[in-house]
Amino acid sequence: MEAYNKRILITGGAGFIGSHVVRRFLKRYPDYLIINVDKLTYAGNLENLKDIEKAPNYCFEKGDIVDAPVVDEIFTKYQITDVIHLAAESHVDRSIEGPLDFVMTNVVGTVNLLEAAKKSWIDSAHVFHHVSTDEVYGSLGDEGLFNESTPYDPRSPYSASKASSDHFVMAYFHTYDLPIKMSNCSNNYGSHHFPEKLIPLMIHNIQHNKPLPVYGKGDNIRDWLWVEDHASAIDTIFHQGRVGESYNVGGLNEWTNIKLVRFLCQIMDEKLGREKGESEKLITFVTDRAGHDKRYAIDASKLENELNWRPSLKFEEGLVQTVDWYLQNQDWVTKVTSGSYKEYYKKMYDNR
Ligand code: NAD
Ligand code: TYD
Repeated sequence: MEAYNKRILITGGAGFIGSHVVRRFLKRYPDYLIINVDKLTYAGNLENLKDIEKAPNYCFEKGDIVDAPVVDEIFTKYQITDVIHLAAESHVDRSIEGPLDFVMTNVVGTVNLLEAAKKSWIDSAHVFHHVSTDEVYGSLGDEGLFNESTPYDPRSPYSASKASSDHFVMAYFHTYDLPIKMSNCSNNYGSHHFPEKLIPLMIHNIQHNKPLPVYGKGDNIRDWLWVEDHASAIDTIFHQGRVGESYNVGGLNEWTNIKLVRFLCQIMDEKLGREKGESEKLITFVTDRAGHDKRYAIDASKLENELNWRPSLKFEEGLVQTVDWYLQNQDWVTKVTSGSYKEYYKKMYDNR
């Protein structure tokens, strides 16, 4: 194990963003040992990592970060030198239905990892990179962007739990000198995205001629970033970011939900050989999400100016690529939409 320059614990590596981060690090850094710890909740899927599971510098451990002895054991077993922490309960709608899982994984799980790192690391030659969200800043009006000095103002149980975890991470830096770095990213899209979130849910429903449930008037705004660009930002911040700092990640790409859903319908009409405008007929406005944040938009100039990071892919091209991935990976889609997804969908959308 000592042969590796770093032994990085990536938590939540079987999830949407985590699988992209694991793949990127395995390919780019053969001198790092990557240990992926994931509980494999409904959102975690080892199929996401099929192509790299036999890589010589990769280990998978099924484990729950809420279980402190499990976390400690992994730190000892692999002599962990660094952490990239992505494991989380990540869906706002689920957090409204049941906040406690969010407190356990996002807050208690994060503190367990911080404690293990504090106990194991005796000097500052380590990095604890905490991956977070722009949702901690709350909701914007028509003007302005979130920057790193925007006061925290979380409004959903999900964002409240992430904000709390961010505060603990910063507290461990100030109180114990733990070498932390943090990133707060806007909404991601791309392959392997679980179809409870807007873009993969709409792609799935369009394909199967099911209603497209747009919350409220569809005028809420999200700022979308390709998941591979988020992974490249994490790579950049992990290696070059300043200790004790947070960096916002985003690509200045704001869309109202309704405009985005209409655009997806257009792409899908072409891909499925449907008449122009056919898929749009499926759009159904449904009861709004409780406490629905109006607008998110990220100012990533700190990351761009300090670390020279840039997003690489235009949204319009990325969406077409994403649709292609879903249409070409029907086995993956069938697997994740069978079983408990059906119950979830019924509970959330029937009679909405
Ligand atoms: P996801 O829900 O797709 O994946 C989460 C992963 O964490 C899953 O593999 C799941 O099995 C694992 N997990 C959950 N609870 C666990 C536990 N107790 N112990 C171990 N593993 C556990 O989430 P995602 O969209 O890939 O998000 C990853 C991270 O990035 C999260 O911290 C999220 O807050 C943050 N983030 C997400 C977005 C986005 O748009 N998806 C944007 C900004 C930040
Ligand atoms: P989502 O993908 O859940 O991400 P987040 O809430 O973390 O931003 O939702 C993105 C936007 O799409 C959000 O404004 C809620 C809206 N939305 C719908 O209109 N219908 C849906 O079925 C879903 C899942 C989301």
